[in-house]
Amino acid sequence: DIMREISGINEMEAQIKKRMQLQDVVIVPGNSDSTPWVKEELGRACAVSMKKRLIGKNIIAVTGGTTMAAVAETLTPDFTQKEVLFVPARGGIGEDVKNQANTICAKMAEQTGAKHRVLYVPDEVSKEVYQSFMREPAIKDVLNLISSANMVLHGIGDAITMAERRKTNQENMNKIIEAKAVGEAFGYYFNEEGEVVHKVKTIGLQLKDLAKTEHVIAVAGGASKAKAIRSYLRSAPHASVLITDEGAARELLKG
Ligand code: F6P
Repeated sequence: DIMREISGINEMEAQIKKRMQLQDVVIVPGNSDSTPWVKEELGRACAVSMKKRLIGKNIIAVTGGTTMAAVAETLTPDFTQKEVLFVPARGGIGEDVKNQANTICAKMAEQTGAKHRVLYVPDEVSKEVYQSFMREPAIKDVLNLISSANMVLHGIGDAITMAERRKTNQENMNKIIEAKAVGEAFGYYFNEEGEVVHKVKTIGLQLKDLAKTEHVIAVAGGASKAKAIRSYLRSAPHASVLITDEGAARELLKG
């Protein structure tokens, strides 16, 4: 529309799409760092992008965080014109209950009238626990659903912010700081070059799985997340869809 033309948003979308080789970019006006309701707009824009990409039967894998929680709030019952199942992308990675993928999937299912599944596994698992989890039928079932997801929705966070929010132990905290991690997504920490410098060991979706996912939609806004978004997109094994805000977009284009 005309407002997007005048404010140069359309032009910014085209530039970011080209520079970062993305499938699509949607920018909402404002900066969610300073204006909280901009996050709701990110949610709404994500819902529109999701709807455009639904097919007959959909398995949608979702990560945690406040942005994904905002997405859940904006979903509406018109999703159920298609068959939709929401599954958490990975085992709980240290978030507060309201921001956990399990909770968000339940909310998404409630809002849309679709179905959801839960994955009750802790953040970091030992090798032994990991192997026994993988043999557990209820878990195996959900893992199979995750790996056949045709859509992945996820947040991106600043590395240090996320490490602190997850109460990461001192040893891993040092590792993350020393490696100069700037971004985080799916429990993977990235440096500015987009290299993985640390990874939370949990079951579920792994970064390499994204290469075979038809639609990967990243939702992250706020000028403070620009470095994180860039680091993640450098390593993303897939032409993602990016839903962001003007605050992050302006910073992204400066780099
Ligand atoms: O912990 C789940 C997660 O999706 C992270 O991978 C991501 O960095 C973070 O949440 C984003 O959280 P928020 O949307 O609250 O910034």
